[in-house]
Amino acid sequence: MTKLIHDGGELKRELGVIRAFVPTMGALHQGHLDLVAAARELVGPEGEVVLSVFVNPTQFGHSAEVLKYPKTLERDLEKCEASGVDIVFAPSVEDMYPDGIETSENISVQPGPLGSALEGADRPGHFAGVLTVVAKLFHLTEPNFATFGEKDYQQLALISQMVQQLNFPVKVNGVQIRRESDGLAMSSRNAFLTSSQRLQATSISRALFAAQKVVGSVDVKLSAARVELAGEIETSYLVAMSNDLSRELESTEVEQEGRLLFAGTLGSTRLIDNMPLRMANPHE
Ligand code: PAJ
Repeated sequence: MTKLIHDGGELKRELGVIRAFVPTMGALHQGHLDLVAAARELVGPEGEVVLSVFVNPTQFGHSAEVLKYPKTLERDLEKCEASGVDIVFAPSVEDMYPDGIETSENISVQPGPLGSALEGADRPGHFAGVLTVVAKLFHLTEPNFATFGEKDYQQLALISQMVQQLNFPVKVNGVQIRRESDGLAMSSRNAFLTSSQRLQATSISRALFAAQKVVGSVDVKLSAARVELAGEIETSYLVAMSNDLSRELESTEVEQEGRLLFAGTLGSTRLIDNMPLRMANPHE
């Protein structure tokens, strides 16, 4: 039976011994439920899985985006119940930010240089908002483990950095991207696409898979991806980075390890995706 809790004090009283935490903004889909399954795997049947649903205003550039964010708590609860979540923590904005959400007037967790690259370049302040709310949620839930999706690869990298550099006593686990059957990475934003945009959006995973498959330098891989994207979607960035996102790969590098990251827009909907540069070896 999933317990719904809104209050931080009550949450503390309910927490069990060993727990894994899955932070979300709700509108749950199979990608989120994969994180729940990974969390259960980490703590075992006796452990506790805590999932938070909180649309964090400080990570959005405009309040209109917060208002537009799909809010489906009842359906989310049913999904949590069906997938064995023990506690859903759904605090209010007032409880999370008793002194208001004006970032310039509050203490916040500032990301290092990675926070202003890629997604951070297009969305100033976004990662400070993410890190701050995740730090707060970690303190409220005090988890042994936390699971995050590789879908938001840069977010996962920054949270791993925060945990390491600020000595949070939690083990962060990344979970593979869940895709629709046509390859599109699952996202609550996909619901904003028109049917023709939805079709165009499949060019993203096609591009990343094409790059992954072609044998050659980073440049060759990027060119293969660009062919698929051309005329389909407006690209914000398509870059090949080292796995920890600390450096962009040289165009002539024939890299074994690395990550290809994409962001682009269809109409007013921003879509992101990424993939390992090297195809997974089934015998590994
Ligand atoms: P949200 O977008 O709801 O995502 C919650 C978690 O689900 C993140 O770790 C995200 O990477 C993961 N996720 C989303 N789509 C996925 C997919 N297709 N496959 C695998 N995992 C997927 O990310 C956030 O919320 C917020 O920034 C948050 C961390 C909760 C802080 O507010």
